[in-house]
Amino acid sequence: MGHKILIMNGPNLNLLGTRQPEVYGATTLADIEALCAAKAETIDVSLTFMQSNHEGELIDAIHAASGTQDGIILNAGAYTHTSVALMDAIGSVTVPVLELHLSNIHQREVFRHHSYISKVAIGMICGFGAAGYPLAMDAMTSYLGAQT
Ligand code: DQA
Repeated sequence: MGHKILIMNGPNLNLLGTRQPEVYGATTLADIEALCAAKAETIDVSLTFMQSNHEGELIDAIHAASGTQDGIILNAGAYTHTSVALMDAIGSVTVPVLELHLSNIHQREVFRHHSYISKVAIGMICGFGAAGYPLAMDAMTSYLGAQT
């Protein structure tokens, strides 16, 4: 059995498809989940996919992933730029976290240039839209493979 990967999506990402399609594309979160499920089959990953608009639920999911998941891919949405609590949650567990964004946050408003998640992430993928999700799965499996 391959690695267990949890993909977490933060606030407002449930609205993908209708939310600012010029920034985030027309792909819905359900489309992205299907893309990730198909990718998981091809690289033998056991995938869990979730979304929450609530900071505390995301923190609880990070805690629960400790010891049950091999890696987390996190698109924290706007909490990326605000949440010391999410950063501390990641810093408090040993499961590696890969930071992911659909848009290139460095090309956008200055307040999006700073990420609390980057301080505790193994690396970051941004700017590739929905295609970033399967790319992140490859990157995480490569990272986990190199660990063993
Ligand atoms: C985002 C970028 C964030 O700045 C924004 O708040 C989001 C989505 C992205 O995937 O590009 O909600 O994380």
